[in-house]
Amino acid sequence: MTAETDMSMEVLMNSENPEKVLKNMQPFINLMMNYECALMEIETKLKVLNTEFALLHNRNPFESIKCRLKKPISIVEKMRKKKLDITIENIENNLTDVAGIRVICSFPEDIYTLSELLSKQDDIKVVCIKDYIRNPKPNGYRSLHLIVEVPIFLSNEKKIMKVEVQFRTIAMDFWASLDHKLKYKKDNLKHPEIVAQELKKCADTITAMDYKMQEIRNMLED
Ligand code: GTP
Ligand code: MG
Repeated sequence: MTAETDMSMEVLMNSENPEKVLKNMQPFINLMMNYECALMEIETKLKVLNTEFALLHNRNPFESIKCRLKKPISIVEKMRKKKLDITIENIENNLTDVAGIRVICSFPEDIYTLSELLSKQDDIKVVCIKDYIRNPKPNGYRSLHLIVEVPIFLSNEKKIMKVEVQFRTIAMDFWASLDHKLKYKKDNLKHPEIVAQELKKCADTITAMDYKMQEIRNMLED
């Protein structure tokens, strides 16, 4: 059991009317189940592409894939930030990252190959593309983000769910995870701008390395 489920259990136990609390939670639990199913659909699609690619080209276009559901507390925080009532409908219509998948590729080229193969599947609708590889963020962040809609088939309905898919190389992921860790520490720094400059330099070095490695791979494949 996670700390979070532990906490929900505590809320439930201390409630005067746990039945009512549970009943009120049911639509939210259903919503999260829908997002989890959407994650499974996209994960399977990507794994199918990986398996076929491995057979055709003798290598895997992605190294690993990580799925995550946004934590209830983060959903609440984001809805409050957007000044919206926390309803199922508002969550579905206003949050695009409740279900998130991160696909870690070896080479930048594979990111575009995979994302195009996924995007052109006839049950997938691409709602938004943010290409932070061709247009990196000023801090040096690079990744390709897609928001896609995918259908899930339940016992008596079909639902269309949004999933955020982030594609990165191993190097971009290494940079982003360090950047993420340092974000929490940046507030206490004397010279945050120096750290930002150094991080940006690392991002540039990593970019050069990504394309150099890709060049070497292309030479080997020729
Ligand atoms: P969020 O409200 O954070 O979801 O951002 P957004 O709606 O403006 O979308 P965007 O596509 O820019 O970013 C979505 C996600 O990409 C974030 O939640 C992070 O996981 C990742 N991301 C974006 N920018 C950065 C960055 O500068 N550093 C790191 N480490 N991750 C980032
Ligand atoms: Mg987000």
